[in-house]
Amino acid sequence: MRIIWLVTLAALSPVLLMSEEFKFEPNYDESLIPDYTLPDVLDDVSSAEDWPAKRTEWLNLIGTQMFGVLPASFQDVTATAEPLSADKSILGGKGRLRQLTVTLAGCELNLALFLPSSATTEYPAPAFLGYNFSGNHTVFPDPDIVLTESWMRRKEDGKASADDRGASASRWSIERMLDNGFVLATLYYGDVDPDKDDNFQNGVHAELGQPGPDEAASIATWAWALSRLLDVIESDVTEIDSDKVAVFGHSRLGKTSLWAGASDERFALTISNNSGCGGAALSRRAIGETVWKITTAFPHWFCDNFDQYGNNEGAMPFDNHTLLALIAPRPLYIASAEEDRWADPKGEFLSCVHATHVYELLGTEGMPASEMPGLNEPVHGRIGYHIRTGKHNVTDYDWEQYIAFAKKHFN
Ligand code: GCU
Repeated sequence: MRIIWLVTLAALSPVLLMSEEFKFEPNYDESLIPDYTLPDVLDDVSSAEDWPAKRTEWLNLIGTQMFGVLPASFQDVTATAEPLSADKSILGGKGRLRQLTVTLAGCELNLALFLPSSATTEYPAPAFLGYNFSGNHTVFPDPDIVLTESWMRRKEDGKASADDRGASASRWSIERMLDNGFVLATLYYGDVDPDKDDNFQNGVHAELGQPGPDEAASIATWAWALSRLLDVIESDVTEIDSDKVAVFGHSRLGKTSLWAGASDERFALTISNNSGCGGAALSRRAIGETVWKITTAFPHWFCDNFDQYGNNEGAMPFDNHTLLALIAPRPLYIASAEEDRWADPKGEFLSCVHATHVYELLGTEGMPASEMPGLNEPVHGRIGYHIRTGKHNVTDYDWEQYIAFAKKHFN
């Protein structure tokens, strides 16, 4: 009898699991948040001198338990760049568009640079470096922007289409960047690693191999490639001041920008827009998207070790405030949106509050707010934060803040 029961249960378990997923109802009620204690980001550290060793510990923990650390196959891989097109004047001479082909681990990445006319080798400009979701051609409506040949998500045939030129332009505020003397360097993230659960058969993994349970999954791979692009900027783009490169990302790419900024201290400033679970939001609050939900829906983003914390966030030896603290004392901007409850705006804000302890230990101010600011009332300390009205998105309002924040810290 017992055996029959066990066999039936085993046969039904995939169905039960599926129905659990089907039934997932995010909690948005603050009163239902489980009691939790956050790991103390400073732990036993009491002086700035002791922070680097603690930082290394957190970096390894978050690496091995969440994003995955870089396997040996990634270690000495370098990127090379070739011009893809001659510079082209854009926006009535406010700037110029340059395209480079970057070769990385057998992949060709198209890097688009939007340079302000003021940027020269003698007077190099600060830059924002960030991935786009749908190809460089969607960022700016120029007919000469090369269409990526990489697999394109949300397209039935998996191909980039010229019909989408400029379709995401509202997310990039390029004219505002150029007017303020900033470069935008952007590329399609799928050029590095297609965003699908393909068992790591494509993108750079085709050459570098599949990750082990504690090794770089997709987010860590995208973050690593941002560092290789910074190498290219340092060596090949003399019009960019490589000491003033801000790494930027939205949503899953905002999780990526955080890991890039945490892992590579050459990034002078980090911006994470609406990054939510696995990004800026505290995991233990389990508001909106949870660790179980994200590791089930997007298993390729995180290393396999992270799965053990699904519905078990209290067992995480860190929480996401420690991820933000890795960026200290460099400037960091976290942004939320009022209607983006899935990303838990309050959890994103609280991470900044807790990361502030490290900024203060290191002699900087961190975030100058301990209460959640009002809507559209940004605070710009060493940590910047705002919650704007509206949905999960990147808007001109967001860029207005990022540009002001970068100007404040780069000057
Ligand atoms: C999904 C996912 C989020 C992610 C977002 C995005 O909503 O659940 O974690 O941030 O996609 O990248 O757009």
